[in-house]
Amino acid sequence: MTERMTTSPAIPKAPPAGLVRFAQRIQRRVSSFAENMSPPPFALLDLVMSRWVSDALGAITRLGVADLLASGGPKDAAALASELDLHAPSLYRVLRALARRGLLVEADDGNFALTEVTRPLAKDHPSSMRNMVLEVTRERNVEVWARLHHSIKTGSSAWSTLHEEDMWAHLDARPEEHAIFHGAMVELTREAAPAFARALDYASYGTICDIGGGEGQLLATILAVHGAARGVLVDAPKVVAGAPRVLSEYGVSDRCEIVAADILRGVPAGRGFYLDKNILHGLSDELARDALRTWREAMPEGGKLALIEVVVPERGGAYLQFLDLQMMLVSFGGKERTRSELTELLASAGLSLERVIDTPSPMSLILAARAG
Ligand SMILES: C[S@@+](CC[C@H](N)C(=O)[O-])C[C@H]1O[C@@H](n2cnc3c(N)ncnc32)[C@H](O)[C@@H]1O
Repeated sequence: MTERMTTSPAIPKAPPAGLVRFAQRIQRRVSSFAENMSPPPFALLDLVMSRWVSDALGAITRLGVADLLASGGPKDAAALASELDLHAPSLYRVLRALARRGLLVEADDGNFALTEVTRPLAKDHPSSMRNMVLEVTRERNVEVWARLHHSIKTGSSAWSTLHEEDMWAHLDARPEEHAIFHGAMVELTREAAPAFARALDYASYGTICDIGGGEGQLLATILAVHGAARGVLVDAPKVVAGAPRVLSEYGVSDRCEIVAADILRGVPAGRGFYLDKNILHGLSDELARDALRTWREAMPEGGKLALIEVVVPERGGAYLQFLDLQMMLVSFGGKERTRSELTELLASAGLSLERVIDTPSPMSLILAARAG
């Protein structure tokens, strides 16, 4: 390996994937033990009503309560309500409910504080999940989940029962929704990116082209870890408009080109390494095959393509089950795929799956090259 590796203090080392999976298995066993100890009707209600917890967290995030608790320290409901112009008795009931669920701390003097788990609700937290929380609890999302039955009955997207345009066009036309969705992608990717950045010696393949790379969070992390690497970020015009801020935060702007393009029609050709995180799961098999063929055309001899996606276990085992349902609801035929489905899809576009690299995140890196 001739590559110069830089160690940026901003990019944490990821724990070993095996250790994380082991801890998650224990967590699942403990939760299922706790559920089995409750009378079944109560265990069931607890599960069903957990959506309300999510809504309450969404509301205190949206209204700025979490930010104020993070910046101003513990406060009671009256003080919070007066600073944020809210109805104090209603706010108190929400804070009390969250505190009794262990998600806030309620002191004897009536002050509330965030806990270790809820601190990332604040926008200035280094691992902030503010946009993710807003995204999941947004009306736009809640409405499609309320139509899950429609997708089960018809096999078609619940999104299309509510909107004329697809989700990308919908976001593009609504600046606030656009900022929340793409902010959420940056947050999710920020947590997973260090492990993917260290999974391969990227610079040895040539320039890295991140197809549908959003605002550049993954590419910026890879370039920060691999000091000799260069990148090209490709996404829709309004999305890449947010990239200069992210790239400059990681000090990699001078090694990254930004291209606004429709990735289903074409991507910059002749780059050695193509990266594609969470794009295929939004596409039906037919659209995914056509996109892969288009990207294959752009690949030089010896080039590589890495998909970063959830790999659904063929039998049993944990995966991001509900992300698969989210794709069913908001896309037109998108889904999470098993290893054999991914192998088949790649083959249908003239690509062969070389290996799958597991990481501590729920997603894997699927490395492919031109077949034959
Ligand atoms: C689920 S997000 C993933 C973003 C990024 N890869 C990540 O994982 O953080 C999908 C991305 O694909 C982009 N995208 C979808 N269809 C596109 C198209 N036809 N042309 C350009 N970008 C597209 C969206 O704008 C969005 O940024």
